[in-house]
Amino acid sequence: MVLYSVSKGISLDDIRKEKKFVEWDSKFEMGIEKIDSQHKKLVELCDGLYKKIMETRADSSSDWHESMKGALKECADYVLVHFRDEETLMKAAGFPALAEHKRSHEMFTKKVVETVKSFSELSITDAIQFVRFLHEWIFTHIAHEDKLFAKPCRDYISERESLGEPFSF
Ligand SMILES: [Fe+2]
Repeated sequence: MVLYSVSKGISLDDIRKEKKFVEWDSKFEMGIEKIDSQHKKLVELCDGLYKKIMETRADSSSDWHESMKGALKECADYVLVHFRDEETLMKAAGFPALAEHKRSHEMFTKKVVETVKSFSELSITDAIQFVRFLHEWIFTHIAHEDKLFAKPCRDYISERESLGEPFSF
């Protein structure tokens, strides 16, 4: 069963060769401390999933479902926390494209939740494709959609600070 089709990214051969998979780059920074640290954490969690796959492939006696389950759940839970925080900030700042951004979050969340639910039925190839999908979606979303709210939300945070009412979320 193939759940996701991704045109580029890691392949089984890359994994066997231990190619570096996920790397943070400062160009993804938005200048909003909490959001930036959450994005970095998401990337770390995604990398953690990749490492679990690597470990599993290196040890054929291991139960890869069992070994990846915790890391996948941690990543999925963190995605929800992060989206909630982003949406809270966008709403407070009056970001006009909030509804559209929320729809993007919801579509991604749906895929993640469905995959976590059906995880025990996935093959390792499906799991690798899912990690590729996570990685590509997260980076593309940060680089494009999240960038759209960076300036208005930074301005809102600065304005609140100048009023002596710092925004916290
Ligand atoms: Fe977002």
